[in-house]
Amino acid sequence: MILAFLLAAALKLIPAPVSFTPEPDHSSFKKAVEQLEPWQRQEAYKLTVKGEQVKIEALSEEGNFRARTTLEQLRALGELPQGTIFDYPRFRHRGLMLDESRSFHGMEFLKKQIDAMALLKLNVLHLHLDDSAGWRLESESYPDLTALTAWRMGYTYHEWEAGRYRFARADTPGATGGFYTKAQMRELVAYAAERYITVIPEIEMPGHSMEVGYAYPQVLCELPDGRLHTGAWDLCPGNEATYRLLEAVLKEVMDVFPSPFIHIGGDEATMKTWSQCVNCARRMQEEGYTEVKQLQGYLVRRIERFVSAHGRRIIGWDEILETGVPQDAVVQSWRGSAGGVQASAQGHDVIMSPNTHCYFNYYQDLIRKEPKAVGELVSLRFAYGYEPLAPGMEPARLLGVQANLWTELIPTAEHAEYMLYPRLLALAETAWTPASAKEYKGFRKRARALVDVLRARGYNTFDMDTESDLARSGLQRFPPEGVPIPIDD
Ligand code: ACM
Ligand code: ZN
Repeated sequence: MILAFLLAAALKLIPAPVSFTPEPDHSSFKKAVEQLEPWQRQEAYKLTVKGEQVKIEALSEEGNFRARTTLEQLRALGELPQGTIFDYPRFRHRGLMLDESRSFHGMEFLKKQIDAMALLKLNVLHLHLDDSAGWRLESESYPDLTALTAWRMGYTYHEWEAGRYRFARADTPGATGGFYTKAQMRELVAYAAERYITVIPEIEMPGHSMEVGYAYPQVLCELPDGRLHTGAWDLCPGNEATYRLLEAVLKEVMDVFPSPFIHIGGDEATMKTWSQCVNCARRMQEEGYTEVKQLQGYLVRRIERFVSAHGRRIIGWDEILETGVPQDAVVQSWRGSAGGVQASAQGHDVIMSPNTHCYFNYYQDLIRKEPKAVGELVSLRFAYGYEPLAPGMEPARLLGVQANLWTELIPTAEHAEYMLYPRLLALAETAWTPASAKEYKGFRKRARALVDVLRARGYNTFDMDTESDLARSGLQRFPPEGVPIPIDD
């Protein structure tokens, strides 16, 4: 088996398969998959190439699709080795989040990224469909969400911010933006499903929601003198109007997206207006709360009840752990890995997308050579080095990993692709390939070859040939002055 692992890494394939033997392997596929988890069996395949003949064995259409993807990638790389590949995924959730609120990229962009995801055997596209910078999904019950906030003055997020967050209507001269119709999202869901990718919609609450209060001020906190807290970042969790809007919208969302999971955000509520609001005060009194923070738990639990009554499960960013949430809720760890570890200990299923390794809006190389980005260095090598099963984490609770692309600084489709590739190749290998079979130097060569395939298919990728010594070293921070950067690839 060890030899098969080494040979697997010798193929140009990304993600590297579980095993490859250069002779046709006649052992029983059905027997080989018996010890796997049901979700692994679903995607497992055996691909045998002998002379000109290609044989695929799989237990499902999905397994068959993964095998054909392997074949497609090998052919694109000009490699069809004789022998047998046996393969199945390490994790069931292999995701990418795209933030369409801060910068709206459109259907063509989304379909193109789905194509690349399929090639990399990723299977979840998480769409961040609303945030303070704009609501991007048609709603029939609350049409002003798009009519009043899907366009804005300021093409880039920062132009919009500098202009004091001015929204506009579609026909306002100089306005930019857009939204997805339900018909478009149904088309996207079907397009993704044909490639065995699930689209998980995110409707953000109660923070990151300035646009909702702009379109429907009845969801804002109310001061004792009757004035509303206009411009607030958070929805009012004390107010019934808030739940009417959220539930109506979520019902529409569940109608469009068949995903078993609905992401409800839950991150970074400032809670500033809640302590000044008559409706929040009343809710706190009714519930016997002593801290405004408990209102966040109230909202998340109430929305969780609504979503689960419709047969779906919620995912929330790791903040939802802090104020009490039912066991069935999935926790997505983003502030490092601690939230994921803690959530798994409490019996929650967990998705790992720590900002340390999985935020592809962070710099991938030196600040002076890159377009303006965020945070620490997440080089290809550093991203590749990520191990999702953090110390202390309950393995059975770990659903998988996800890359997140926040787009405050990423206005165009070309720029988004530049941030995604090749780092998404690293994430894909972490998500699929056994940890014991990962090895950076070999991966880098394979990634270099696959980047050429992506470029030939029209993707705008980061240029690996210009990667700095620091990025190649895999360090996250600059070493102190005078300390050499170790390069060994
Ligand atoms: C997040 O990055 N605020 C989830
Ligand atoms: Zn309030």
